[in-house]
Amino acid sequence: MSRPAALLLPLLTALFGSACATMSNATAARAIARDPHSHAEPERVRVKHVALDLTLDFGARRAEGTARLELERRDAAAPLVLDAVALDITAVMGSSGGARRFKVGEADPTRGSRLEIELSPRDTAVIVHYRTTEGAQAMQWLEPEQTAGGKQPFLFTQGQSILTRSWIPLQDSPGVRVTYEATIRAPAGLVAVMSAEQLGRGADGAWRFGMSEPIPPYLIALACGELEFRAISSRTGVWAEPSVVGLAREELDDTERMVQHAEALFGPYRWGRYDLIVLPPSFPFGGMENPRLTFATPTILAGDRSLVGLVAHELAHSWSGNLVTNATWRDFWLNEGFTVYFEQRIMERVFGAERSAMEKVLARRDLELELAELAPWQQVLHCDLAGHHPDDGFSAVPYEKGALFLRRIEQLVGRDEFDRFLRGWFDGHAFESVTTEEFLVSLDRELLARHPEAAAQLDLQAWLYAPGLPSDAPRTQSTLLAAVDREVERWNGQTKASELDTHGWVTQQWLRFLDALPDELHVTQLAELDRTFRFTQSGNSEILCAWLVICAHNRYTAADKATAEFLLRVGRRKFLKPLYAELAKTPGGLRRAKEIYLMARPRYHAVATRTLDELLSWGNVR
Ligand code: BES
Ligand code: ZN
Repeated sequence: MSRPAALLLPLLTALFGSACATMSNATAARAIARDPHSHAEPERVRVKHVALDLTLDFGARRAEGTARLELERRDAAAPLVLDAVALDITAVMGSSGGARRFKVGEADPTRGSRLEIELSPRDTAVIVHYRTTEGAQAMQWLEPEQTAGGKQPFLFTQGQSILTRSWIPLQDSPGVRVTYEATIRAPAGLVAVMSAEQLGRGADGAWRFGMSEPIPPYLIALACGELEFRAISSRTGVWAEPSVVGLAREELDDTERMVQHAEALFGPYRWGRYDLIVLPPSFPFGGMENPRLTFATPTILAGDRSLVGLVAHELAHSWSGNLVTNATWRDFWLNEGFTVYFEQRIMERVFGAERSAMEKVLARRDLELELAELAPWQQVLHCDLAGHHPDDGFSAVPYEKGALFLRRIEQLVGRDEFDRFLRGWFDGHAFESVTTEEFLVSLDRELLARHPEAAAQLDLQAWLYAPGLPSDAPRTQSTLLAAVDREVERWNGQTKASELDTHGWVTQQWLRFLDALPDELHVTQLAELDRTFRFTQSGNSEILCAWLVICAHNRYTAADKATAEFLLRVGRRKFLKPLYAELAKTPGGLRRAKEIYLMARPRYHAVATRTLDELLSWGNVR
């Protein structure tokens, strides 16, 4: 039995009590890996494989069919316990023949229902017959007018964090990895794609898929619409609607290079193909790292490849997140913090240190602004989510504070040593779901034990368990952003906008420019900026959104039309939230926000409406 290293003993003792002194670190770390966001009891009966056979009915907006679940039965007497939200379960059959009794528990507001299925002694699988309902939060069914083509409807799913249970009955915990296969029956003229290997179409026209690596359920994903494919390299490519796919192919040209750089950093890409799908604009996220097929918003298509850091990010998840997965949503920073760190390393290699430095400075600024708004518990990296929806822990903290923590370790032990450790971490935990405690045990054993001088300077307690940002968080300098700050100073000192030296500025510099402007601006100043730099007409979604927030704050009505148009077209939560929040600060703005929201809400995904309903007190008094 290994003894906890001296360094970690106080921390682990605080976490697990004195029991850990007599337990191996690994056992202690495993002991608390319970997922409070799932009803499942995988330690008794565990789902190992999911086989779907679903028919998509766009008219009725539902999927209907079966999910066959292959089981590992550790406790022969135990029932199978699944998660389900708003599923209409019509029957459950046992693999050894006959119907099985099942019980759908009362829906709890966060987790949904516990679905308990009685098993016969010889059952090795069950077949659940079901259909989805209007409450399927994971699924967004789009009307043709919400697509680029305007003729065909569109469907996509979004599983993370706990939405997969609203379209598939299963053990919806990131600690319960499954392989999967699927048969998807879609109307003629539509193409179905999934986060899996495409196995072609059967004689019946159905689309077939297989994922032979065990993945967490939140990564099972489906999209269906009028889609075309363009190759980028022999193993990368992009899916999109016909009128978008050409543009998308150009914008994403660096994808293969990114995969090569990522492999050089942290080991082989283990998923075969890396494709992307560019979805219609109502997709609620920038990107979602569904394995083999990243889902992306069309708002990254800026025309100049300036927003492809998002591709580096979603690609990086192929290691941090998909290969080594957070065991519970409490460990979310293990997914996102590692991924932001990794994304920055890829960007540095593909686009150079200066671009990467600008992105780091902007990200840190966003973190600092957000920290000022968050409750103390939300500022903690290893935050306690029990009693909360996983979404309530979503902020820049797991992302940027997580990445800064890793950069701090890198700074202390040196890049070569840290890279060696990370490669070992990904290899040693490939296709596993891990907790923060397991990470700490590895960190101690594989890295800090060899670098006592670094270990002595690293305040793990502060980084992982305290609110705020530790004072040793690494700082990044950017000469290109410093140049922007000087121009803003000149403008503040009465230099005309047209006389500022903005020659050759890239997106990140424009974002800094907008951020560095004084908070309070006069309408004539806004008009001057807009006339000179044409922000309201910007085709770059990041720049446009930042500008529209400034306009809302300063009640620059000339941008009202553009704001309404943007909010009606785009469903990306990252943009909607700050814009609606800014509008909601004044009574007049709130009225406008609600008028727009009334029209736009049916076009947003449930992920976005959950956030915005709360922000606008929707459903209370309108
Ligand atoms: N996995 C996340 C998206 C996510 C997180 C969905 C939590 C549901 C719950 C994805 O990798 C992500 O972080 N996307 C970012 C882009 C990125 C460049 C920071 C986004 O969507 O903005
Ligand atoms: Zn991410």
